[in-house]
Amino acid sequence: MHQVKLAENIYYLGYNDRRTHLFENIWPIPHGVSYNSYLIVDEKVALIDTVERQYIDDYLEDIDAILAGRKVDYLVINHMEPDHSGALRAIVAKYPDIILVGNKKTFGFVESFYMKPVNILEVNDNDVLELGKNKLQFQMIPMVHWPETMISYEETNKILFAGDAFGSFGTLDGGVFDDEINLDFYEEEIMRYFTNIVGKYCPHTQRAIKKLAPLDIRMIAATHGPIWRTNLDWVLSRYNKWSTYTTENGVVVVYGSMYGNTQKMAEVIARQLSERGIKDIRVYDASKTHASYIINDIFKYKAFIVGSCAYNNAMFPNVETLLTKIEHMGIKDHYLGVFGNFSWNGGGVKNLMKFAEAVKWELVYDPVEEKGALKKDKYEQCIELANAMADKLLG
Ligand code: FEO
Repeated sequence: MHQVKLAENIYYLGYNDRRTHLFENIWPIPHGVSYNSYLIVDEKVALIDTVERQYIDDYLEDIDAILAGRKVDYLVINHMEPDHSGALRAIVAKYPDIILVGNKKTFGFVESFYMKPVNILEVNDNDVLELGKNKLQFQMIPMVHWPETMISYEETNKILFAGDAFGSFGTLDGGVFDDEINLDFYEEEIMRYFTNIVGKYCPHTQRAIKKLAPLDIRMIAATHGPIWRTNLDWVLSRYNKWSTYTTENGVVVVYGSMYGNTQKMAEVIARQLSERGIKDIRVYDASKTHASYIINDIFKYKAFIVGSCAYNNAMFPNVETLLTKIEHMGIKDHYLGVFGNFSWNGGGVKNLMKFAEAVKWELVYDPVEEKGALKKDKYEQCIELANAMADKLLG
């Protein structure tokens, strides 16, 4: 296999997953994902994180090819989620004297997921592990994306081993470094990775960005996606924007519709928004488009208008799934509009209003609820709902 180096003695050990359909068994990855581990070969040898378990054989083989008989002294565990700790037990079995490097939360996870660790080195903020000419400084960045998450900063080459932070969906199709790739491909995938996986922890991400700001970072090596060595601002500015809930003046309209009546209301609202001059309008059928993509646009645009028909005295299930995810993620600072169809017993709009109360977004107009086919009165209220939203957005 090609050996890819970040520096003279620092190797990339990454594997492309084009088989898995759902990351964490929930998020679609049509463009796949990479699992990135790194190997520093100095007076001491250190691995930074491991890989997903299906790549253990290749991983051990590739480490052997680089080390040519030397052993690994340290396994630095920046993050314990199994897409990065999947080969931990195999590494410990192969190198029984290896020292696991983590923080006080890490080793509890090692024990609960794999085994009681034997040789450990507990580190905290600003601690430095000397490997020879390479030195790893540690900083804790809890909840980006688990409680034990930390980063390792290699002081000599100024490389940030960032764990999930600044990671991306999408395999590395030949190019590994950002300057080897057309980044347009990653525009949506890196945002989806952030919003879907880390999006619940925006305040923690902001704290991490501020904490790491004093470091002189020349390269960012995340556990997924490209290694950033040229366009660091490309990824840093995006993470900063998303984690501060900075949005654009657009509207996401989502509906759940069985017989087309709720869809018709969505079309009226979208058209009126357009007539008022709103250019970024995204209309989604919650039964067709996975929440993963809709959530991306909710992070992108300031306004959200959601409609649901009634379904057995409840909300339409696919709308409910989306709203549960939004509520769970705690997305902040949006304008909200609500509409739907009573059908024969209601339940759609009534439950949308429970969502409205839970997320505490600003409701720009009273909920619009039709019974059966869209008629003049509710048609006009849809127009008014769109006008109220446009007024908010256009100031
Ligand atoms: Fe890529 Fe939180 O694991």
